[in-house]
Amino acid sequence: MGHDVVCVDNDELKVAALQGGDTLIFENYLPELLERYRNIKIRFTTDLAEATRNSEAIFIAVGTPQGETGDADLSYVEAVACEIARSITSYKVVVEKSTVPVYTNEWISRTFERNGVSPELFDVVSNPEFLREGTAVSDFLHPDRIVVGANSERAAKVLQTIYRPLTSGEYYSRAASIPGSCSMSEPPPLIVTSTKSAEIIKHASNAFLALKISFINAVSNLCEAADANVQQVALGMGLDRRIGPRFLSPGIGYGGSCFPKDVAAFRSVAEQLGIDFQLLSEIEKINLHQRKRFLKKVRSALWTLREKRIGVLGLAFKGETDDVRDSPATDLVQMLLAEGCTIAAFDPAAMKRAADILPADANLRYADSAYDAARDADALLILTDWKEFSSLDLSKLNKMLRYPIIIDGRNMFDPQVMMKNGFTYLSIGRPTVYPLRDLDATSK
Ligand SMILES: NC(=O)c1ccc[n+]([C@@H]2O[C@H](COP(=O)([O-])OP(=O)(O)OC[C@H]3O[C@@H](n4cnc5c(N)ncnc54)[C@H](O)[C@@H]3O)[C@@H](O)[C@H]2O)c1
Repeated sequence: MGHDVVCVDNDELKVAALQGGDTLIFENYLPELLERYRNIKIRFTTDLAEATRNSEAIFIAVGTPQGETGDADLSYVEAVACEIARSITSYKVVVEKSTVPVYTNEWISRTFERNGVSPELFDVVSNPEFLREGTAVSDFLHPDRIVVGANSERAAKVLQTIYRPLTSGEYYSRAASIPGSCSMSEPPPLIVTSTKSAEIIKHASNAFLALKISFINAVSNLCEAADANVQQVALGMGLDRRIGPRFLSPGIGYGGSCFPKDVAAFRSVAEQLGIDFQLLSEIEKINLHQRKRFLKKVRSALWTLREKRIGVLGLAFKGETDDVRDSPATDLVQMLLAEGCTIAAFDPAAMKRAADILPADANLRYADSAYDAARDADALLILTDWKEFSSLDLSKLNKMLRYPIIIDGRNMFDPQVMMKNGFTYLSIGRPTVYPLRDLDATSK
């Protein structure tokens, strides 16, 4: 956008890798952008004091993992706030970018004051981030909205200036801009709210998206019981503009480093504030149930699981990312291993990270390709919605499998196509199909 950026992390290995040209995570556009701006507009350091002194705004983007009772663990935010406080000598805007519960802004301010920083020397602003992993760069540069929670006009102005290249549309007129949905004529809106509202906007947004996923998952279970087709139901629902088609894809439930912990943190905030928000517990309950239901589906297709050879496509928590944090896919692999299955798993980007939590052994092999994962398997499971899985050569896949059974936890294929290609195909919320040649079975 044109700003000078210093990225600080206390993980020396990460910083050294970034300085050396590594991007560390699999994320579209990130390698090109870092290549273009490294050491020109962006640099990496472990020296927080120096970065604080030289910056007008300091974005806090440290992790806020789930604590033992579901509440957000804010110890990283507190630690970094103390460190920033010790280095402040002139006015700074401290921007809370991590996803945090309501009242965190006030705690950061209090921490600054406790560390002897005079209130005239800082403002704390909440600027929640809505990007999705896999499309992080374009989501950030083409946001649906930018939310700035500020209780001071001076601080709000600094944030408005930072985002002006986007909100004025000027960024989108540049030759080197990253493409996306915003444009010169349709720039993103920036709304200024109170700090508390901004904090709640982030948690409420993620909880609402998780709700949509759990809702369609519950509907998909109902469709299975009634022999209906959830894809048709979702189409019919999503065309209603008040509902919208997105986040109405049933599957094995949401995962990743955000939705599970954010829904839990929001539930915990509600509890602490004495608000009865049972709906949030139901969202979580349906989500976890969905994984167990999928395991049952695998069992229903294979009769028994002990010593079955299972091919697995996908380990990341969703497609186009290498993130396996709280991934339903790795969770299911663990459940299948516990049932005595032997697994050959393939993921286009996440195998290295998956191997850190699930090391290869006699029962778990990381495959070289999707076809290699399918080799001699009693069934192939699709657990992550990588786009590239939808263009697999189905006849080749069929030949690789010992039994042509696919159990698709992400509804990536058209059942009719799978039937014509000779598969027994089980998916979520849609009737199971059997190979075309097996006429008795198709009429079941
Ligand atoms: N990942 C996403 O898609 C996403 C989207 C929106 C919001 N968020 C929020 O952003 C925050 C960060 O998420 P993430 O996925 O990037 O987490 P992460 O754990 O991958 O990264 C956090 C980084 O902070 C560093 N760190 C911790 N304490 C530090 C300190 N005292 N000084 C310097 N560096 C320190 C860690 O070393 C780590 O590199 C979370 O609150 C998350 O909820 C994430």
